[in-house]
Amino acid sequence: MGNIVITNHPLIQHKLSILRDKNTGNKEFRTLISEIAMLECYEATRDLPLKEIEIETPVAVAKQHDLDGKKMAIVPILRAGLGMVDGIHTLIPSAKVGHIGLYRDPETLQPVEYYNKMPADMEERDVIVLDPMLATGGSAIDAISQIKKLNPKSIKFMCIISAPEGLKALSEAHPDVDIYAAAMDDHLNEHGYIVPGLGDAGDRIFGTK
Ligand code: PRP
Ligand code: URA
Repeated sequence: MGNIVITNHPLIQHKLSILRDKNTGNKEFRTLISEIAMLECYEATRDLPLKEIEIETPVAVAKQHDLDGKKMAIVPILRAGLGMVDGIHTLIPSAKVGHIGLYRDPETLQPVEYYNKMPADMEERDVIVLDPMLATGGSAIDAISQIKKLNPKSIKFMCIISAPEGLKALSEAHPDVDIYAAAMDDHLNEHGYIVPGLGDAGDRIFGTK
């Protein structure tokens, strides 16, 4: 079973409260999604390997550490995952970006794939899959299954709000994938929405409702 990390840092909790508020407008919502993703990225990259290097300060030679040649890719699940890309790029500007387009059929709640474009050298990369919402888990499970066909070195999944149902389904389907979330909510309602959640993340990022 992969690790499930709920990053309940005070800064994240504060930003989550504003994010969930139905009166928060699209512009502020986008900023918060990006900022929370950046704060979660700090936790999700805690295990990056380092190598020792020597640098000269104006005073002396210092033994320091450098990231050890990590090649990263981030894969937002369209649409809502796009909102997390800027926050991750702030900390890892060299990360390449793959895109996977999925939407949930409103009746069956099953993911329907409509786009897939990944970096050419995925087998050399450590991948973080991004989607603010982990509800039933169907979209994340499907996206990760597609990405695994390209044999990346490792895969992590990062969301902002998760439902217990989605955490269980994803960790059972892909036990090798560590999951990072800013919150674990109560349950899913009869339409597959996370309760209390924040509504439809894609609509709130892009102002489509
Ligand atoms: C939302 C969300 C996830 C998915 C989560 O996308 O961004 O991708 O639902 O639900 P699941 O865990 O039950 O699969 P949606 O299908 O609404 O598409 P959109 O991002 O284009 O709005
Ligand atoms: N997708 C969303 O955007 N919100 C939910 O609550 C569930 C799935």
